[in-house]
Amino acid sequence: MSYPFQIKTPEEHQVAMQKSTNDPEGFWAEVASSFLWRKRWDSVLDWNFNTPDIKWFAGGKLNITENCLDRHLGSLGNKPAIIWEPNDPEEHHRVITYRDLHHKVVQFANVLKNNNVKKGDRVCIYMGMVPELAVAVLACARIGAIHSVIFGGFSAQSIADRLQDAQAEFIVTCDGAYRGNKEIPLKSVIDDALVQCRFVKKVIVLTRTRIPVSMIKGRDLWWEDEIKKVETMGNPDCPAEIMDAEDPLFILYTSGSTGKPKGVVHSCGGYMVYTTYSFVNVFQYKPGDIHFCTADVGWITGHSYIVYGPLCAGATSLMFEGIPTWPDAGRFWDVVDKYKVNILYTAPTAIRSLMSYGLGPVNTHDLSSLKVLGSVGEPINEEAWQWLNENIGKGKCPVVDTWWQTETGGIMISNMAGITPSKPSYATLPLPGVQPVLVDDAGKEIEGNNVSGNLCIKFPWPSIIRTTYGDHERCRLNYFSTYPGYYFTGDGCYRDEAGNYRITGRVDDVLNVSGHRIGTAEVENAINMHAGVIESAVVGYPHDIKGQGIYAFVIYSSTHGDENLSRQDISQTVARIIGAIARPDKIQFVSNLPKTRSGKIMRRILRKIAEGEVENLGDTSTLLDPNVVEEIKNGKL
Ligand code: WTA
Repeated sequence: MSYPFQIKTPEEHQVAMQKSTNDPEGFWAEVASSFLWRKRWDSVLDWNFNTPDIKWFAGGKLNITENCLDRHLGSLGNKPAIIWEPNDPEEHHRVITYRDLHHKVVQFANVLKNNNVKKGDRVCIYMGMVPELAVAVLACARIGAIHSVIFGGFSAQSIADRLQDAQAEFIVTCDGAYRGNKEIPLKSVIDDALVQCRFVKKVIVLTRTRIPVSMIKGRDLWWEDEIKKVETMGNPDCPAEIMDAEDPLFILYTSGSTGKPKGVVHSCGGYMVYTTYSFVNVFQYKPGDIHFCTADVGWITGHSYIVYGPLCAGATSLMFEGIPTWPDAGRFWDVVDKYKVNILYTAPTAIRSLMSYGLGPVNTHDLSSLKVLGSVGEPINEEAWQWLNENIGKGKCPVVDTWWQTETGGIMISNMAGITPSKPSYATLPLPGVQPVLVDDAGKEIEGNNVSGNLCIKFPWPSIIRTTYGDHERCRLNYFSTYPGYYFTGDGCYRDEAGNYRITGRVDDVLNVSGHRIGTAEVENAINMHAGVIESAVVGYPHDIKGQGIYAFVIYSSTHGDENLSRQDISQTVARIIGAIARPDKIQFVSNLPKTRSGKIMRRILRKIAEGEVENLGDTSTLLDPNVVEEIKNGKL
């Protein structure tokens, strides 16, 4: 497979940068031309950031799975689409060719149809990292159903909230999932969620761990039985549903600064074009390369760079079920060695965690197949960047630091491996077709270099968020109203003398814990559910491995006395309401919170205390009771 839109030299990069700003529509029309469309679009772009209303390739007809699967069958049919490495290295791995994957997707698409899933229906997918997860995602796309994958670490309550918001009547799950030495009872979590969601009609359960599950008559079905039914029907074909470019492809829930996660909606055409374009260019994918993205498909990184981007590009995507530290801290390197991985795309938190084990687990493996290393999810500190560059890449693999978001669908700011220079801790330059700007708090564009500001994007790109599911106004308020005329990212950013961008972190009340986005308001709501809690305030603080840790200040009506037990109870409450990923790292009991006279909590002060900056707290004169600050300082954990 060749990629006419692949940028191969710094000169071509220059040309693409110019063309994409001077004639964005012409630029994207050219990129989009190399995909399989059932009908060409009528107009490349219609947009209005104020409403917002953004349409790419309007009038175009396609199905993304024909681009991921059918069009490869001729030349790549016997090539591996997915290589799957199980959690337990003793278990057999699986190699799924494009032909196999096509067959499996068609089969499962027929299972969905047999169960009356129709175009536009929402299907929630709650599975571990097994190939059938990718099959389920693609099968939905095949018939035009809208998938909403929920990360396997979320709690029953979180699932119920998402099911209700999406009004999803169908669920695909596993009996259980393996993660390191843990077994997660996925189906049982779903059962708990469904107590509140009577509208769910069908739950299809894949066998993975064979942990005992309760299967409810009429509602719950085994994946394997449903496949057998399709086989008895003689394995009929499942022609791809022809979709409008702007039909929704999926919903993915993500945290914001308000309490409730929002369903980010991506559409079929633009998302396909942008994920493939960015995949091929940032990683400089060459046919035959093995691409290993360590993210979970429950997050956007897995959607875009395990499933859709690589498969549209006819690439080989390695999917890993386990975790980097089990059975030992050499597991990633073992996988790289075993499959001769060429591109490794991972997260700073994983790198920092592996760094702490020293070079022993690294040096016992042959990593010479590696050509490109990538980082995503949070700012990568210079030490982790250097460690990756020197010890994993041996100084010969470009490191791409890729900045993007669930809402952007694909990588927005990053160097291109071997084409544009890297700079440690900088995401560097926007991809051609992306127009970032920095604005001040009044929304005025900050020109020039060596400047900091709020990162916005001033022109649409094909995989920009289209809406938040069921609440378009929320989309407008969250992303398009803070700085009118721009898409606001929520990130702070610095631009150096050469125009390189360095993301400095969120400027809103969103935490980034181990690369996972968590809203402080969400955690506070969960803490406040605990019977003994009167009020709480949550802030982030620097954490060596996780990037940010969660620090909770809690006013507690203690009735039992033992503070440690109370802390554990609160932590358990958060795990129940959101999931274990949101458990606070520190819980400090306080008698009061620093509030202004109007009752607003001054988080700035709490943030400083949590960061250990107790000397320089700034102006505290507007506080209702400045004495609380002393007390909180003295009780710091
Ligand atoms: C942060 C993940 C610095 C950022 C793809 C963004 C980063 C949020 C980087 C999105 C990076 C992501 N450098 N910060 N290379 N990549 N972020 O939606 O704060 O899970 O807004 O998408 O992660 O997180 P999300």
